[in-house]
Amino acid sequence: MTESLPDALMLDVLPPREGRIVILTGAGISKESGLDTFRDAGGIWSKVRLEDVATPQAFARDPEKVHAFYNMRRALNRTRKINPNPAHLALAELETQWPGEVLIITQNVDTLHEQAGSTSLLHMHGVHSKARCNACENTVDWTGDMSVRDVCGACGKAGGMRPHVVWFGETPLEMDRIGWALSNCDLFISIGTSGNVYPAAGFVAAIRRNGRAHTVELNLEPSAGASMFEESHYGPASRIVPAYVKALLASSL
Ligand code: APR
Repeated sequence: MTESLPDALMLDVLPPREGRIVILTGAGISKESGLDTFRDAGGIWSKVRLEDVATPQAFARDPEKVHAFYNMRRALNRTRKINPNPAHLALAELETQWPGEVLIITQNVDTLHEQAGSTSLLHMHGVHSKARCNACENTVDWTGDMSVRDVCGACGKAGGMRPHVVWFGETPLEMDRIGWALSNCDLFISIGTSGNVYPAAGFVAAIRRNGRAHTVELNLEPSAGASMFEESHYGPASRIVPAYVKALLASSL
């Protein structure tokens, strides 16, 4: 584990110049954009029980309570201007400037990476700006409120529209693509995640078991999986991510 970030960052290990980079992001990268994390003091799960709003059982038991939770989070994105911060922007620059492939795997359901310009990106927990029909699986963009009265435009059924997000107990999206990316990357960077929720929390161990990547944690503080990372730098994402990206790009010249 390395000390908190000096201004001129020294990378412990340089990936191969054309190397593949996989980046896992969590709620911490969006914190300085004004979005709450889940498990920090005052975080989302300190205000509402995840068992009441983020499981298939909760939706079956009380769909309007679940809709109210996600309606409030969508409304926050509509009313308060939530913008990408320097960390999101640095990752978008890395994608355009790095000579090899860069893939962001985000656990976040916000669209700040897209707004920053990242295109090589997958949302393993879905996005709250989309809805999915429980009856026919059709997925559509959805930025307004949602309720049990909404009718699916594809199958015509009412009551089955749900947020297109992955709830606890459900399988994250694109896991085959993620598995391939983890096994075939040269640098794995984990940013702004507490390492509490699987399978994402297990990615670093999977790489240490059967991948070849150098593993780096960039976080405000050591995560639950900190000891698994070969390199780590701690501080606010809006500061440490641009510094790390700058050093990485300087090494690729
Ligand atoms: N810069 C960098 N890291 C930060 C910052 C910041 N400004 N602020 C907080 N962090 C770190 C915290 O130290 C913590 O390690 O971000 C992490 C946030 O952890 P969580 O709140 O647990 O969020 P996350 O890891 O993304 O949760 C994973 O859990 O509830 C589910 O589906 C939800 O995708 C989410 C998943």
